[in-house]
Amino acid sequence: MNAPDSRRETHGTEPEGRLRPGHEWREQARSERWLEIRDRLPGGAQMREVLLNDVIGDRRPRRVLDLGTGGGALVADVRSVAPEAEAYGLDISPPLLAAARMRFAGEKGIHFREHDLAEPLPADHGRFDLILSAWVIHHLPDRRKQALYREAFDLLEPGGFFCNMDLVALPTAELQRRALSVFASMDEEDSSDKPAPVDTQLGWLRESGFENVDCYWKWLATAMLVGERPA
Ligand SMILES: C[S@@+](CC[C@H](N)C(=O)[O-])C[C@H]1O[C@@H](n2cnc3c(N)ncnc32)[C@H](O)[C@@H]1O
Repeated sequence: MNAPDSRRETHGTEPEGRLRPGHEWREQARSERWLEIRDRLPGGAQMREVLLNDVIGDRRPRRVLDLGTGGGALVADVRSVAPEAEAYGLDISPPLLAAARMRFAGEKGIHFREHDLAEPLPADHGRFDLILSAWVIHHLPDRRKQALYREAFDLLEPGGFFCNMDLVALPTAELQRRALSVFASMDEEDSSDKPAPVDTQLGWLRESGFENVDCYWKWLATAMLVGERPA
């Protein structure tokens, strides 16, 4: 689905043998592990509640895009409050996309597509009322995060909104260590993580043109950053 480029000839492996960011998610074992722990992540239930009650609230998005959809958990969450919504999920991982397709087999209006978020967002699905993402964007380098925020803004309908629920960087190494220790039991430490601070990311959202930008919820190193495209 992505345009071929010279790096792709390495089949996801950097010249020195290291996987390109995100490509470890193409592995079956990693994907299965995620599906196994997804619904018992510390803070996950609270985050879902804030998303559904406070961010979406009584807005009823009709077209939704989930960046790094994994097994489609966020698509299911959104459809639980907006059953008519047409949803698109992008992800780099064939095993997770297969799980997502199986989860929604037979349901209309749900589409999954392989896409590396290191590349520009595909523009051929039209515009969206809601673009959201959970635990994904911190895998991307900061410059790509910023570009992605601009691309999300451009793909939103006027009045549409963006919500990034993600791992964020904390102000000190000690706070970071304490926060991540909560996840230690999940065995999920990932040396490829590149979380950015909340304030920095809120600034990137404002610079991209979003308004009513805020951190709706934060718990330890997980935060929910929201912005709206002016109507
Ligand atoms: C921690 S999981 C979160 C999945 C999903 N958002 C959820 O809430 O269950 C991270 C997801 O990001 C995807 N991912 C990581 N790097 C990516 C990239 N460069 N492009 C697209 N997807 C990526 C992985 O395949 C995986 O599905």
